[in-house]
Amino acid sequence: MFRIAHISDLHIPPLPRMRVSQLLGKRLLGLYSWHNKWKAEHREEILDALLAQLDELQPDHVCITGDLTFTTHPEEVDAAADWLARLGPASRVSLIPGNHDAYAHGSLDYALQRWAPWMQDDDARPAFPYLQRRGPVDIIGLSSAVATLPGFSSGRMGEGQIARLEALLGELGAGRRPRLLLIHHPPQDGATNRARGLSDRHALQALLARSGVDLVLHGHLHRPVRSALAGPDGPIPVLGAASASTLGQRYAPAHYHVFEVDGDAAATPAIRVRHSHYDPAQGVFRLGESEPVAAPEVEATT
Ligand SMILES: [Fe+2]
Ligand SMILES: [Fe+2]
Repeated sequence: MFRIAHISDLHIPPLPRMRVSQLLGKRLLGLYSWHNKWKAEHREEILDALLAQLDELQPDHVCITGDLTFTTHPEEVDAAADWLARLGPASRVSLIPGNHDAYAHGSLDYALQRWAPWMQDDDARPAFPYLQRRGPVDIIGLSSAVATLPGFSSGRMGEGQIARLEALLGELGAGRRPRLLLIHHPPQDGATNRARGLSDRHALQALLARSGVDLVLHGHLHRPVRSALAGPDGPIPVLGAASASTLGQRYAPAHYHVFEVDGDAAATPAIRVRHSHYDPAQGVFRLGESEPVAAPEVEATT
């Protein structure tokens, strides 16, 4: 049994003190909204409770679908690297960035450089998409993190990345190991609005309808999501994790997934999932029962 924890949208608190020169443009608005709205919601003690449960579970691997920071301030990026190091060896973590990790123009560059150990491709390809073969699964990381104007949190992969993904999926071929695709923004239609959504998702949908993967994991919406995309052999399950650090006053209480892959199965191994939800009253995460990962009958329109 190979176990993978999928966590997302940590928005690791606290935010550092910022100099006035660092507060131009969107970061100033971000800092304002953090202190007025989000500081009370994203809690350090919840991330500590998450680490406590992960310590108990000892998953074989951890996938993180972005938004480690709130404004991509260099000190937030450094703090996130320290947090990642608490998960164990970097080879056991697959990380992709979210829109909050590209918050101010140019800020993503430092995050990509600082977090490179957790985003490295096994074959030293250009950064995204990367391929990491871990245990019985192939993990593919995409980046939809782009800087946006104030009021927007949309994402974009770009044609180059989608073309490289097509080539990569072609190389991996059919009748093979399960393929997990990580992307911060939800790739399905109807998940959110234009200002928050993945602008080139239709290109990804068309590619996945041809080439397929076994499971798509995303974040960004700060609530648990179960959806589907069309694949060559039937619907592809799409699962979104809520934020891993929220108290639950504005969005869902913190939540993450634990996937169980039976690596001994002769055919394509079955993937099962357990949901872990934060219990604000007790200050602990509670892990639910294991259930098969299956695409919903009807595509969710949320
Ligand atoms: Fe987020
Ligand atoms: Fe996001």
